[in-house]
Amino acid sequence: MGIFDIRPVQYTGGKMIILDQTRLPKEEIYEEMQTREDVWDAIYKLKVRGAPAIGVAAAYGLCLAVRDCPEEDMECFEMRLKEDAEYLATARPTAVNLSWALKRLVRHFEELRPKTVQQAKKELLLEARRIQEEDESACLAMGQYGLSLLRPGMGILTHCNAGALATSRYGTCLAPIYLGQEQGYDFRVFADETRPLLQGARLTAWELQKSGVDVTLICDNMAASVMAKGWIDAVVVGCDRMAANGDGANKIGTFGAAVLAKEHGIPFYMYVPTSTIDLNTPTGSNIQIELRSGEEISRMWYREPMAPKGIKTYNPAFDVTPARYITAVITEKGIVKPPYEENLPKLFAKKK
Ligand code: MRU
Repeated sequence: MGIFDIRPVQYTGGKMIILDQTRLPKEEIYEEMQTREDVWDAIYKLKVRGAPAIGVAAAYGLCLAVRDCPEEDMECFEMRLKEDAEYLATARPTAVNLSWALKRLVRHFEELRPKTVQQAKKELLLEARRIQEEDESACLAMGQYGLSLLRPGMGILTHCNAGALATSRYGTCLAPIYLGQEQGYDFRVFADETRPLLQGARLTAWELQKSGVDVTLICDNMAASVMAKGWIDAVVVGCDRMAANGDGANKIGTFGAAVLAKEHGIPFYMYVPTSTIDLNTPTGSNIQIELRSGEEISRMWYREPMAPKGIKTYNPAFDVTPARYITAVITEKGIVKPPYEENLPKLFAKKK
């Protein structure tokens, strides 16, 4: 089974199944979601993670949540739909795809005003499937645009996991690497381990290795040194929410990689599907950054807690890379260059 046959989120035969990414790379365990609480928990605990995959999981999760609503009471259905959407949106704050997908489903219901509850459930599931299909084609398009910026044999640094596991298929910033691989580009990829939850070491290393890409794992604090050696020609990362001015929130440590890239004259590319661009958020300072348990720093991954008992911790899950460090934003609609506050809104302009 290749990496593209692995689906982090599926809804088939009336069942919502997710691949539990907290168990990777050791075990590939698929888990069925039974309730809206299961879905909330899976998102909160990062069993399903990565902005686009979170959006898809939320959309299917909402369909699952209203599945058992009584057939005869449309008013009750609408109330439950809105309540469940609000509830699921609280699972994680930073990736905009979560609220984006939930709002899209609620809006779809309001625009369509289905006559029966049965029809409403069917329509919502179709819309959730569209979100997943659109994500898959967006990733492919980003891969093609992204590949035009890369050359065979390049050394590429990536942070966290913005690959197939974080999306419906292909990934965002790993998509061009997979397409290049098919065309014999022979990239050398360096994966930051990405402390503290190690999505680079556990997930990026796993999926690239499984696909036969030349991948080398490094600790986050080795990035400067590999850049100084001249081993890195481009940095590619994903994004959890891009503000209207082009500031991009992504996994903690991304900002540092961007600063290092600038110092070494290396282009820094952020892969951002339009579902991750939030024009309602003016700048990066308006993005809510998720704070997580300090145990992820002090004891997780170690046989014994490695920090002194009771140690104070600070564990933000994301940081914001200011727009001025981002060489280009790769979207499914094309490559966007600065000034971002002028060029990002053009992606959403309706064609006359
Ligand atoms: O906490 P995570 O694992 O959900 O964080 C994921 C990232 O920061 C990814 O880089 C981002 O969501 C882009 S995924 C295509």
